[in-house]
Amino acid sequence: MKTWHIASIPGDGIGIEVIAEGVKLLEELARREGGFRVEFTRFDWGSERYLETEQYMPVDALDQLKAFDAILFGAVGSPRVPDHISLWGLRLPICQGFDQYANVRPSRVLPGVESPLRNGHEIDWVIVRENTEGEYSGSGGRVHRGLPEEIATETSVFTRAGVERVHRFAFELARKRKRKHLTLVTKSNAQRHGMVLWDEVFYEVAGNYPDVRTDRVLVDAVTTRMVLKPALLDTIVASNLHADILSDLAAALSGSLGIAPTANLNPERKFPSMFEPIHGSAFDITGKGIANPIATFWTVSMMLEHLGEPRAAARVMQAIESVTSRRIFTPDLGGTARTADVTAAVIGAL
Ligand code: IPM
Ligand code: MG
Repeated sequence: MKTWHIASIPGDGIGIEVIAEGVKLLEELARREGGFRVEFTRFDWGSERYLETEQYMPVDALDQLKAFDAILFGAVGSPRVPDHISLWGLRLPICQGFDQYANVRPSRVLPGVESPLRNGHEIDWVIVRENTEGEYSGSGGRVHRGLPEEIATETSVFTRAGVERVHRFAFELARKRKRKHLTLVTKSNAQRHGMVLWDEVFYEVAGNYPDVRTDRVLVDAVTTRMVLKPALLDTIVASNLHADILSDLAAALSGSLGIAPTANLNPERKFPSMFEPIHGSAFDITGKGIANPIATFWTVSMMLEHLGEPRAAARVMQAIESVTSRRIFTPDLGGTARTADVTAAVIGAL
């Protein structure tokens, strides 16, 4: 029988709480499903380790992770460490080092969940976020620190190869969806170099996908479309920062940040891909036992899909939806259930 070797990196805050639930769910599922086994190896990399050793992860971290079939990641971020240090200490080196250039962020209003939008049931989107370059390339610097003439630069780096591969990925994904519709989101009216390259390459790639309908919306305008005309959107492709912002909006419109999952994919499978809930470490609710595990469960379903276990992936989604339709909700969704209650209900529904 196939054994999937999964690296778990719970990280910080509620990341530790929800990943424990995800592991529980997946072990239980493997037991019931019977077609595969899972074996988790846990890595205690996070802000505690940083505060003790000044390193989020060991120097050979990527070598250690390379052999795994996938990575299940919780969250990184601590009130005791500046956010740019934690992010660049753990999550970004993995995304960039493993060339996980396609960040996939689905959103949908699950049964029983209330959207702040009247027509929220129309939301069925997948945002494809470029995940290795652009505004997050880390290129730039500070000169004359602390002096009145100090300057800082933050350079977005867009490569033709990087743009082309994420567009190709987005077209492939759009093609597999019912509506086969892909919206290109840029800001090429104001950002006249990198974003114009995005537009040009998009239409070059589009030539190979005559079956996918496309349109192009500027990033500011697409926020109004998301709120007012959700049905006009299906698959969306955008740069690292733009898609970061849009995916938080998408999560809020679909009911809660506590349900939104994400996959950081290396589509060529040269390196392991990484799966994580998008909510972050949420220190305000850490340790209270009320973190919503649904985002992690949905994330686990995406991981199973990627591993080639579509039946198990669908089974997890069905169990999630059966629990949300019964409104067994943690406080972020307006309920009083605790993390453990939601997990027990989802496992019960498997
Ligand atoms: C996300 C998060 C991260 C990002 C933060 C934690 C830096 O907001 O995954 O969307 O911006 O990439
Ligand atoms: Mg974000």
